[in-house]
Amino acid sequence: MKTILLFYTLFLIVCVQSITPVEVDDSLDTIKAFGLQTCADIRQVATAGINSLQKKFWDNNSKWFKKGWPTGDRENYWTYAMALDAVLDAVESESTRGDWSRYSWLSTVYSSISGQNSDWYDDEAWLAAASGRMYRLAQRKGDNNLAGKAKSALQRLYNDIHAAWDTSCCGNFRAGVWWDRKHTQKATAATGGAIVTSMWLHNITGDRQYLDFAWQVNNPWVANMVQNDGSVCDHISAPSGAKTCGWLFTYNQGIMIGAATMISRANPGNPSQWNEAKRYVQYLLDHETVSSQWGPVLSDGGNGCQGDCKEFKAPTARYLRLFLEVGRKMYPQDSALLDRAYNTLKGSAYAIANAAYNSRDGTFGTAWTGPAPKNGGPVVQTEQNAAIQGLYNYLAVCK
Ligand SMILES: *[C@@H]1O[C@H](CO)[C@@H](O)[C@H](O)[C@H]1NC(C)=O
Ligand SMILES: *[C@@H]1O[C@H](CO)[C@@H](O)[C@H](O)[C@H]1NC(C)=O
Repeated sequence: MKTILLFYTLFLIVCVQSITPVEVDDSLDTIKAFGLQTCADIRQVATAGINSLQKKFWDNNSKWFKKGWPTGDRENYWTYAMALDAVLDAVESESTRGDWSRYSWLSTVYSSISGQNSDWYDDEAWLAAASGRMYRLAQRKGDNNLAGKAKSALQRLYNDIHAAWDTSCCGNFRAGVWWDRKHTQKATAATGGAIVTSMWLHNITGDRQYLDFAWQVNNPWVANMVQNDGSVCDHISAPSGAKTCGWLFTYNQGIMIGAATMISRANPGNPSQWNEAKRYVQYLLDHETVSSQWGPVLSDGGNGCQGDCKEFKAPTARYLRLFLEVGRKMYPQDSALLDRAYNTLKGSAYAIANAAYNSRDGTFGTAWTGPAPKNGGPVVQTEQNAAIQGLYNYLAVCK
């Protein structure tokens, strides 16, 4: 669901990124808000954000999200899945403190989309990953009904993505999953998504075939679509085989960090994918962050980040956190890079809370170094989804 906006956005992003560095907003509001600097502060802002998402973006009649506030049409599949991730983050966090009060809303949010497919395989993969999370959380709650629904949705989405494997296209590089049902390209989002989907099923079932499929999708992509500097190309077009590289989208690094980290976690004796994940992280931290008074902050470019770009930082924050958690357990010797990853999650969360947050409305702007949205909006759901996940994914590791 993102072609149209994608092409419109990219040109701007590349330009803005090459100009950098983004100045930190030092307006009165920002300075006044600088007091937000503890884990409890971050929790408070995250809670305000998810409350606001529920109140302003959830339509209780159609049981579906809206694109904007104060007005907005019915949300698309991908962004709905990202909102679901934000709600999952909230319930995961709250339930570890014994609060399940938001679970019944989560259950409705999940059930409204879980039976649907998309014509974009990356969209399905985002929902598949959220289904894996839903399964684990429902299990913890003792809700067998919802756990069963989530597992079967994950399996159904996997089957659809698995059937999109192709060796007939494109150019000299012919091994990968399609991005879309129309077969216009193969893209990193769908490739990383296919690996993550497969690894979730492997995690839940223990069945070796899912690990095998993850390797099958991963290896040719790494060989053909990752550049020497660790940056991941965006896609390869059909039928020409022309590669599109050099777009500074955090989520391309982010989804491949997730894919490589999940494979490493399941293969303790084999550091090959951990080493790949490190290269992706290195590139992300070196090229797709801006510096601020709170430390490094994830950035998809300032004002050029429009359309779907506004939520690209969501999966990036999630998988940077996974990289940090898995690395601390399995590869503590990589402490320098792990510390940088931590500082980026932290800088991002404090920038969101202090510079991108409108505390009256509980809303967030796109660029995490600000500005915050005006009172009364307008705001779109994509940017709320990203900021809420940026906050929760730091909160999970906040000390
Ligand atoms: C939303 O709908 C459910 C029934 O489907 C109802 O129980 C709940 O009170 C409604 N919530 C709001 C805020 O209207
Ligand atoms: C499965 O996922 C859990 C977290 O949900 C993780 O602790 C565990 O290590 C994973 N197992 C494998 C084999 O990757």
